[in-house]
This record gives sequence, structure tokens and C-alpha cells, in this order.
Amino acid sequence: MSEGSAVKVAVTGAAGQIGYALLFRIASGQLLGPDTKVALKLLEIPQAVKAAEGTTLELIDCAYPLLESVDIYDDPAQAFDGAEIALLVGARPRSKGMERADLLEANGQIFKPQGEALNAGAAKDVKILVVGNPANTNALILAANAPDIPAAQITAMTRLDQNRAVALLAQKLAIGVEEVADLVVWGNHSPSMFPDLFNATVGAKPAVELVDMEWYEQEYIPRVGKRGAEVLNARGASSAASAANAAIDHVRDWVHGAEGLRSMAVASDGSYGIAEGIISSFPVRVSGGAYEIEQGLEVGDFAQAKIDATVKELTEERAAVEKLGLI
Ligand code: NAD
Ligand code: LMR
Repeated sequence: MSEGSAVKVAVTGAAGQIGYALLFRIASGQLLGPDTKVALKLLEIPQAVKAAEGTTLELIDCAYPLLESVDIYDDPAQAFDGAEIALLVGARPRSKGMERADLLEANGQIFKPQGEALNAGAAKDVKILVVGNPANTNALILAANAPDIPAAQITAMTRLDQNRAVALLAQKLAIGVEEVADLVVWGNHSPSMFPDLFNATVGAKPAVELVDMEWYEQEYIPRVGKRGAEVLNARGASSAASAANAAIDHVRDWVHGAEGLRSMAVASDGSYGIAEGIISSFPVRVSGGAYEIEQGLEVGDFAQAKIDATVKELTEERAAVEKLGLI
């Protein structure tokens, strides 16, 4: 990222629910810290540009010292020109009764041209986070259409799943969330995801030793995996503030580093036998503006079976978008 001048942050879907929960936090410094100015580059579809203009008026009215500029575009080439961070939120959310994979065809079409536009115009070291669902496979489509952007710079969001997993475990054990460490989620951002209590700790103990296996398998794993649907059914709309919060967590940690393991969906290098190239959530360590997939974690038979199932789903999604000609 350029020193001194404002960092160009592109946000798609700026007029949407997540956009409304996200932009004010970025502009106030919660993404890049209190010493970094931000130039927001917002992308919307033409019908939603007016609403994005309304949000921009409010951003201006906050008088944030760190907000250098806000520009709104309906053309990805302009929005991504020079972008150093790109938060790809703009996509249709599911409605009640849908699975995230049901969005593949409609939303997949968004990520091909956006991948091409990022490839053509983004900063060489751009950091990309895909939030729009189905996030892992949308990131795969984007990567396939952005051949000049190193695969390591394209990620999808499973931090919301990690945060949910931490919060629900802490609730069960009646402890503070800060007592839970290294709790990561593997695989797809879908009900098949696997929250790993074997490698997580509470105090000095493996988290798995503090719960019974029946609760872990029958209640906890499905609840974390279906938390998005639980929110959707209660709110009548998909999660927005918690998703924006997770996007901030993901990028802030990627840029500034963090202690302990984090969940990021990144291109597999074949680690843990996960098919190379698919975008899977992995345990990663973040420092110096980069992440590395953590090696050498224990993966027993129980965990392996869960990881295999979620990876199988990702390979099926990859086959589906291949068929659609998106990759
Ligand atoms: P929303 O419908 O409120 O907003 C989406 C916005 O994207 C709309 O303003 C729309 O006009 C815009 N948009 C659509 N196509 C676009 C395009 N081609 N370019 C730019 N903008 C475009 O939806 P939301 O609640 O903000 O959710 C956005 C996406 O995030 C959904 O796909 C949702 O499923 C997903 N999501 C992901 C996670 C996660 O953990 N990965 C969590 C929550 C939501
Ligand atoms: C979530 O996990 O809340 C989002 O992916 C939205 C959804 O459709 O579940």
C-alpha cells in the first residue's frame, strides 16, 4: 500500500445492507487504523447509484478526518482503477428457503467481469475479499478471470463463521469470548463448514475436552453452519452488521497482523489434502500484510471426514461453474 497518501478502498454493493453497515466503519478508521486516510471507491448497479449517493451524503455528514474522498461508479473498470483493497459485497442475498449455492448462477455472472476489471486496473498488491455468496466459489470465478493477480491476494470470507463459532462456544461454556483461541473453520461458507474444536483452546486446554461429543456433532456444528439461516429466519433478511464486522476483522488482521489462528478462505496449495486451487477456508496466520496456511495441525478421523465433506461440496461447485463457462 502506498505510504502517506490515502489508501484506495473499493466497495461493491455500496447501497446494500452490508454496505450500509460497512462504509462508516471503514471511513472512521476501523479497517486501516487511526493513521491511514481512505479514498472510498463505491460500485453499484445503475439503479442503485442514487441510493449510494444518499449513503455518501451521510458519510460526508460524519466529518470523518480520515475520509479523503468518496466516488461512486456503475462501471467496474473505474471503481477498481488503482484499488489497493477491494471488498466485493455486491451480489444478491438469499431469501428464506434458499441455500447459498442457489445463488451460484446469478451471482457468478457478477464475478467474471469484476475479476477482469480488477485484473486490468487494480494496484499490483491489491488485497481482495469476496463477501457476496456463494463466497468461496465467487472468489474462484474472480481468480480465474484475473490471471495477473497472484492467487494469494484473492480471499473469501469465513471470518463470520469463525466469530459465530467463538461466540456460540463461549455462550455454551459461560466464558468470555476472549478466552477462546485458535478456533477456525474449514471448508465452504455453507452448512457443510467444519468448526474445529480439536485445535482450538480455552485457557491451556483443547476446547474439545470441555464439551461432549454429542453436543459438538449434533448441536454445535449444525448450529454454526446454519447460523446464517437462523438470522435470516429471525430478521427476514440475511445478516448484515455481523457480516460487515467480519469483513473489517478479516481485512484489518490481513493488513496489520494478529496473534493466533484465523479463518480465511484462500486458494488451496494442496495442504491437508484439500484439492489444489479451490478456495477453501483454512487456518491461517497473518503477519506483515500476508497470511500463511498453518501447517502441522492435528486432523483426526472425525475432523478429516468433516473436511472431506465440505471440500467435496466445493469441488462440486467448481464443476458447476466450469459448466456455466465462468471459469
Ligand atoms: P443487499 O441486497 O442488501 O445488497 C446488495 C447490493 O449489491 C445491492 O445494493 C445491489 O444493487 C448491489 N449489486 C448487485 N449487483 C451488483 C454488481 N454487479 N455490482 C455492484 N453492486 C451490485 O445484500 P446484502 O445483505 O448487502 O448482502 C450482499 C451479499 O453478501 C449477498 O450475496 C449475501 O448473501 C452475502 N453475505 C455473505 C456473508 C459471508 O459471510 N460471506 C455474510 C452475509 C451476507
Ligand atoms: C450468512 O452466513 O449470514 C450469510 O452467508 C448470509 C446467508 O445467506 O446465510
